[in-house]
Amino acid sequence: MKVVIAGFGTVGQGIAEVIGMRQELFSKSFGQQVKIVGAFDSSTIVKNARGLDPVELVRRKASTGTVGTRKVDGGVKELIEEYDFDTLIETTPTNILDAEPGYTHIMAALGSGKNVITSNKGPLALRFRELSKAAARNKVQLRYEASVGGAMPVINLSRELLRGEEIFSLRGILNGTCNFILNRMKDEGLPFEQALREAQEMGIAERDPSYDIDGVDSACKLAILANAIFGKDVTYNDVIRTGIRNITEDAIALAGEQNKVIRLIGEINKDRLEVSPRMVPNGHPLAIGGTLNIVQLLTDLAGEVTVVGRGAGRMETASAILSDLLAILSEDRAKGR
Ligand SMILES: NC(=O)c1ccc[n+]([C@@H]2O[C@H](COP(=O)([O-])OP(=O)(O)OC[C@H]3O[C@@H](n4cnc5c(N)ncnc54)[C@H](OP(=O)(O)O)[C@@H]3O)[C@@H](O)[C@H]2O)c1
Repeated sequence: MKVVIAGFGTVGQGIAEVIGMRQELFSKSFGQQVKIVGAFDSSTIVKNARGLDPVELVRRKASTGTVGTRKVDGGVKELIEEYDFDTLIETTPTNILDAEPGYTHIMAALGSGKNVITSNKGPLALRFRELSKAAARNKVQLRYEASVGGAMPVINLSRELLRGEEIFSLRGILNGTCNFILNRMKDEGLPFEQALREAQEMGIAERDPSYDIDGVDSACKLAILANAIFGKDVTYNDVIRTGIRNITEDAIALAGEQNKVIRLIGEINKDRLEVSPRMVPNGHPLAIGGTLNIVQLLTDLAGEVTVVGRGAGRMETASAILSDLLAILSEDRAKGR
């Protein structure tokens, strides 16, 4: 299989390394190699139909700041459409205003008969139905396990292993940064601003933290889950959203007096699509600490199914992309391609 990686930051470099590390698995399980035949970042591009060395790509990005030696001159869409490869791995930044540049990359790939694996929430949280239809129309796969919860395998679990279940509802913690802040406020009695500063100093929160603390990131993920698992046709804008900016030390202390903690919970059920801070009893799975993500599904046969995992990180997110890559290889083999 020939892949092109769009965006060569944390996740793009992680998946390049993992593809390099798993060649034996690809050969043993599928009798073929996975070759990276192209990669591009915001300003440069590199291509080689015979395959590029992932270690060399990562080394060049680290030492020069660019993945390629050739400048990108706005021709990326045409390149995706015309270049001979099988699967686009799309890892450019999430943009919740217009889903670009990911939307154009993904549509160009699907429209020219290539599979897409993406970790980019923007296109999925804004234009899910359109992208799914384009994949079906062109008889290719669109997979996006990494877009929700990093290494926590909730989408493929629900759509594949639990596909015989009726899934009634989902509740979960989808943003590790908020969880870290709420936990520090509780454990140390810190005011919100101080816990946020600490998270920023530790590299857990961005310099502009609004995407996390105002619940935007969680709402994007909830919209993706509602579409992917519950068959809804919603966007990020349909999610009722309250962040954690206004949570006070008093609110945390009051919850503590009732033996509860405050968590930013995303919930999907037949009447609700909402991200908001809620009180959770101590000891409940959703009272989880640290930066972990967690999702609880309520199903008709299996009952409650809970998944916990690391919601972000270079290798963790690459792990989710790898699972999608293996699923595409399996599907191709089943179809005798
Ligand atoms: N990091 C995680 O743990 C994680 C987990 C789950 C999902 N995600 C999602 O995965 C995606 C990638 O995250 P990341 O952490 O890898 O981001 P990142 O480190 O900021 O990397 C983004 C990459 O995209 C490139 N890029 C930006 N604009 C571009 C354009 N117009 N055309 C081509 N490339 C462009 C950047 O180029 P330059 O290098 O030239 O700036 C960079 O290489 C995001 O959508 C994010 O929300 C991330």
